[in-house]
Amino acid sequence: MRYVILGSRGQLGKEFLRILDGEEVFEYDLHNIDITDNSQLVSMVEKTKPEVVINCAAYNQVDLAEEKSDLAYSVNRDAPQDLARICKERNIKLVHYSTNYVFDGNKSEPYEINDPPNPISVYARSKFEGERGVLENNEKALVIRTSWVFGEGVQNFIHKLNQWSQSRSVLKIVDDEVSTPTSTVDLAKATLKLLEEDVEGLVHVTNLGSCSRYEWAKHILSELGWEGELEKAKLSDFNLPARRPKHAVLSLKDLPDHVRRSIRTWKQATSEFISHAEMI
Ligand SMILES: NC(=O)c1ccc[n+]([C@@H]2O[C@H](COP(=O)([O-])OP(=O)(O)OC[C@H]3O[C@@H](n4cnc5c(N)ncnc54)[C@H](OP(=O)(O)O)[C@@H]3O)[C@@H](O)[C@H]2O)c1
Repeated sequence: MRYVILGSRGQLGKEFLRILDGEEVFEYDLHNIDITDNSQLVSMVEKTKPEVVINCAAYNQVDLAEEKSDLAYSVNRDAPQDLARICKERNIKLVHYSTNYVFDGNKSEPYEINDPPNPISVYARSKFEGERGVLENNEKALVIRTSWVFGEGVQNFIHKLNQWSQSRSVLKIVDDEVSTPTSTVDLAKATLKLLEEDVEGLVHVTNLGSCSRYEWAKHILSELGWEGELEKAKLSDFNLPARRPKHAVLSLKDLPDHVRRSIRTWKQATSEFISHAEMI
């Protein structure tokens, strides 16, 4: 297979480069392509002639997106939609990622694929319109919603918590935000399994289980051997520009059994990630 990875310097992009080692892979990130430039996308696929394009590129700054909404919409909505058309015209399989933030977080049970989205921030709306644009323009595309992604890099909760824990003896973490931490390892492996089976349309992929941000922090800090004090806080204690969904757990009910069985729990995946200290 000949793959193009967009966003190859991000958390998930890096994991694909690792897992696809030995395959024919063309890697692109902001240093060599701007996905918001349609002509760059066209010349990239004309040059590389891939069978699969995996779009890991996104604008993921949830709070900043409130003021930089034009950028969020052009990266998260317009570019994926263009990519969907470009891939369809050339019969290239497209994989794109969306988020649990498409939901408002008011449901106490996990969200099923067909539950109605109700995004409550600019970032969330831009990602929701992106997933819809991809699906409307390319019915063969695979669109994967995921949540709380962690992998090699600095833009994830484990890295940030590790940094904070080194300079503070008390940490306050919210217990009214619930979802599922998701390792890029499990996410990339599941994506390749779904690709092998030529799955199309919308799918949910996360690690197994769910937890509050506080519970996740407690597990991370215990694995890091931190001896400070962890306190519970509420989202309303922090004056964050963007609203977050409070309970946005994605149901994996529709995932093929063997794919679901190959996914680790969020606790296992977190522990293993932390055991590779160079990753954080
Ligand atoms: N991170 C999460 O918690 C989370 C949760 C749910 C869903 N997702 C989705 O999962 C996917 C992978 O996320 P991730 O955490 O791996 O993302 P990431 O680490 O933020 O990586 C995204 C990459 O895309 C690049 N990029 C941004 N704008 C671009 C542009 N115009 N052209 C080309 N590249 C551009 C970024 O470059 P710069 O760093 O230089 O901007 C970065 O290298 C995304 O679709 C994301 O929305 C993530």
